[in-house]
Amino acid sequence: MKFFVDTANLDQIKEAKDLGILDGVTTNPSLMAKEGVKGDKAILAHYKKICKIVKGDVSAEVFSTEYKDIIKEGKKLAGLAKNIVVKVPMIKDGVKALRWFSDNKIRTNCTLVFSAGQGILAAKAGATYVSPFIGRIDDTNWDGMDLIASLSHIYSLHGIETQILAASIRNPRHIVQSFELGADVVTCPLKSMEGLLNHPLTDIGLAKFMADAKKTEA
Ligand code: G3P
Repeated sequence: MKFFVDTANLDQIKEAKDLGILDGVTTNPSLMAKEGVKGDKAILAHYKKICKIVKGDVSAEVFSTEYKDIIKEGKKLAGLAKNIVVKVPMIKDGVKALRWFSDNKIRTNCTLVFSAGQGILAAKAGATYVSPFIGRIDDTNWDGMDLIASLSHIYSLHGIETQILAASIRNPRHIVQSFELGADVVTCPLKSMEGLLNHPLTDIGLAKFMADAKKTEA
């Protein structure tokens, strides 16, 4: 059971790490843009900073969509640090690139996965991780959790080593359900991770303990 934080924000990555439960980081072009990181040099430098903070896997997404360019970009990203995992979109050229990376011992995360069929292709192409996008499936009025359950069933039935990395997590309940249904990893914003802390009975119980602790003061 692994926890990744889904952000390119260095402060949030540090905060998640300080919680003591962080196993890795995932990013994507939208998250990089949100941090105002622009241009090849700045992007590569930003990944280096993330890899210095976190020892676990850091998914760095390619911007290219054509086979040769995906390979070129992925090689460059993988060369940045040992813990970089090249994130590749679920498209035809992406699947071919997953196979190339796998054959060349470069670890990958296949992103934008919305169906079991796509998850099968990614696994067959040797992806290290496959990223089903739970929240975005829910947005379309389908149930994202069905995909986690389906992938979990198929992968265990056929002894597939590709790890299910539940992504597009929008709330703490998504995290719990993903793990319940067999996701190997959940990546989520720090806010959802911290949401797991909350329970009103904990607050009520703590207030009572604190009040009673005062009574024990000499
Ligand atoms: O890991 C993928 C994630 O960043 C997408 O999340 O909320 O934009 O669907 P969201």
